Amino acid sequence: MGLPKNVLIREVGPRDGLQNESVWLDTMEKRTWIHLLEEAHLPYIEVTSFVHPKWVPTLKDAKELAQSLNKKEDLTYAALIPNEKGLAHFFEANLEVGAMFISSSETHNKKNMNRSIQETLPVIKQMTTDLKAEGRQTRAYISTVFGCPYEKQVPMDQVLRLTEQLLSFGIDEISLGDTIGEAHPLQVERRLDLLLERFPADKIALHFHDTKGMGLANIYTALKAGITMFDASSGGLGGCPYAPGSSGNVATEDVVHMLHKLGIETNVDLPCLIKAAEWIEAKVDRTLQSHCLRAFQSHTT
Ligand code: HMG
Ligand code: MG
Repeated sequence: MGLPKNVLIREVGPRDGLQNESVWLDTMEKRTWIHLLEEAHLPYIEVTSFVHPKWVPTLKDAKELAQSLNKKEDLTYAALIPNEKGLAHFFEANLEVGAMFISSSETHNKKNMNRSIQETLPVIKQMTTDLKAEGRQTRAYISTVFGCPYEKQVPMDQVLRLTEQLLSFGIDEISLGDTIGEAHPLQVERRLDLLLERFPADKIALHFHDTKGMGLANIYTALKAGITMFDASSGGLGGCPYAPGSSGNVATEDVVHMLHKLGIETNVDLPCLIKAAEWIEAKVDRTLQSHCLRAFQSHTT
């Protein structure tokens, strides 16, 4: 298969990135970063997470942040939601996309959600019904699709079963998570062959963490299989606090740079993305893994 003409980038930095940082950014600082990302014309930003503040303290100002945003019309604002309590906060915050999550491996689900997979599914089903009744879009992550820190390989049957169940709830988009960055191109090709035999590509996004530097190669493989939605994180921040070994997501600016070189349209402004990555790098006060950011900095110093 050839390459697609257009790709949608799902920016997850303010959520996946900050949930894994120890540094505290106050609400105004988070807004500033989100504003820089808005300036890059990203179509989607996952701005925060309505999980328990004890579990993810760096996002404890989720509602205040969401309510304080000066939202742009052509941009979709999303947040992560674990359960009905989080959903109530999400509705108060008035965002457009509710992003739910479940893991394809039992142990990770238990550590992440404090529930079994079977206990999590009805919660997601009910939240999907509630979100749809309020006219919101729905997304669900399936984590550990390419490897689990506790159970190692996850059987593909389990991923297919969960994808089918989530789509049967009416969820608009499923994002398959490589939570600890174990995926490699051959595995991505094989898993997508099986998935795309059964489900349409326009329902599937991919979410690669870049722990072993395979993120871009995996995205290229997925593009050739027909996937057109990819999650990425400004600067390459990211990681799941309940998945040991997980590190940053593939950096948004690296993904956009590769896509543009491939002649694929994203509508995203790369220099603005670099500015946003530079800003967050200074805030977290450590060198981030973004290649484009490094190249830009060595060019300008
Ligand atoms: P729990 O402790 O089992 O909750 O947490 P509970 O239902 O037993 O309730 C205990 C107390 O927590 C109650 O309060 C609830 O009201 C309260 P009390 O009656 O004792 O005063 N509570 C809440 N408070 C605020 N917000 C809420 C909430 N829910 C309950 N939403 C829970 C269950 C799921 C909330 C918890 O386990 C949790 O917060 N987990 C989140 C873990 C997390 O954020 N992980 C990272 C995100 S997932 C990820 O990164 C992967 C992804 O990027 C894809 C990939 O890379 O693969 C998406
Ligand atoms: Mg993630």
